[in-house]
Amino acid sequence: MTKIPEIGLIGLGTMGRNLALNIASRGVPIAVFNRTVDTTHGFVAGAGDLAPLIAPADTLAGLVTSLPTPRKIILMVPAGDPVDDQIASLAPLLSAGDIIVDGGNSDWRDTARREKSLGQIHFLGLGVSGGAEGARNGPSMMAGGTAKAYAALEPVLTAIAADYRGAACVAHLGPGGAGHYVKMVHNGIEYADMQMIAEIYGLMRDGQGASAGRVADTFARWNDGPLQSYLIEITARTAAATDPETAKPMLDVIADRAGQKGTGRWTVMDAQERAAPLSAVEAAVTARVMSARSDLRSTGQALFGGVAGQMPPLSEADLESALLAGKIVAYSQGFTLLATASAEEGWALPLDRVAQIWRAGCIIRSAMLDDMATALADDPARPLAFAPDFAALLQAHVPALRRVVAAAAARGLPLLALSGALAWFDTIRQARGTANLLQAQRDFFGAHGFERIDRPGETGLHGPWGDGQ
Ligand code: 6PG
Repeated sequence: MTKIPEIGLIGLGTMGRNLALNIASRGVPIAVFNRTVDTTHGFVAGAGDLAPLIAPADTLAGLVTSLPTPRKIILMVPAGDPVDDQIASLAPLLSAGDIIVDGGNSDWRDTARREKSLGQIHFLGLGVSGGAEGARNGPSMMAGGTAKAYAALEPVLTAIAADYRGAACVAHLGPGGAGHYVKMVHNGIEYADMQMIAEIYGLMRDGQGASAGRVADTFARWNDGPLQSYLIEITARTAAATDPETAKPMLDVIADRAGQKGTGRWTVMDAQERAAPLSAVEAAVTARVMSARSDLRSTGQALFGGVAGQMPPLSEADLESALLAGKIVAYSQGFTLLATASAEEGWALPLDRVAQIWRAGCIIRSAMLDDMATALADDPARPLAFAPDFAALLQAHVPALRRVVAAAAARGLPLLALSGALAWFDTIRQARGTANLLQAQRDFFGAHGFERIDRPGETGLHGPWGDGQ
């Protein structure tokens, strides 16, 4: 190591290692620290040609003193208490103007709190998406914090970010927790996207008797069309993979219980608090929770029987269309949540930029995000589902979504997210809904009052509900 490191990184787990290699591979000298010294040295020893650009630090103080001021240090430690613990040991070694970057999946409220508590030390909350491969070769990054802190990091972040036709997939989205908030919603949408894909897979497997190979071929074909996206691509690849132990398709040997680290659940809770619910993400989180309850599902199947009923015929084009329509609904809900949070928190989130930096590098990258960026630039206040191009897509593809949901119901197959997306679509095009009855019920049992359609604005009205009401 001959060059003075320009930046420091703490935490050499999968994401930290890959991000450090990415930084070094752009010619930026970096100092790294991990709480186990052996890990640090082992990492540098295995860095090959990049090793001369990576300085191992045995102590936190050693890392800090190796960096020029203002120091820039990226934390890649697990979200939650480890971030607070790391900041508590690092901050006393730093000076005013130094910058700590949290590149984990932190709760945005924690990020806002940490930024405030650090005072003269700058704090940037950086949502990093793209998994291990993205971290190594180019992630999508969502930054929140002061403009000054972002400006100091911008050259290196731009250098390591994913590239979409010459544009770096990184942006300063707002102050405090804004970056981690956008990453949280990204993950919520990721849950919905994944769940809807899994539902179509289930319909093919249990409704149409499709083999994993046929699923792989179908998704591979769809990846050449309007659904083109990383998640569709990896669905095809995982469905095509064979288990070396049993020679069966990998999908047929993997247990149907999904894990989750919490960002999807946070998104749903936050959305409900802001009265901007995302039915597709809610369904996806519910589906993951129910997937983990295999005991419950086995008992239920023994009691009620499994799939039953005839499977109405569905074309492959219907399945593709259903996914397209569901995807538009999920993203419309997600961007509406971002707009709501932006207004409530005073962030001025640039929604078109969010869509732009999601076009490459991140898990939800897809061809459609480019069109979404255009629609959001045109009118950020309008729900994406109402933008002319997306409204036309919904008009064209919702009939197929309706056929798919109906066929799944006839066969007894659950489509939590896709049927939720259809119900949402039908709700937003129902000018007169059914909450008049809810209001009557509320007034009946609790004298909560209601408004009349023929006397708008007049409140505190009650019904003639009979005895004692
Ligand atoms: C990404 C992913 C990444 C990670 C999630 C998975 O954008 O790169 O979202 O952050 O894979 O933590 O979350 P679950 O464990 O909750 O599925």
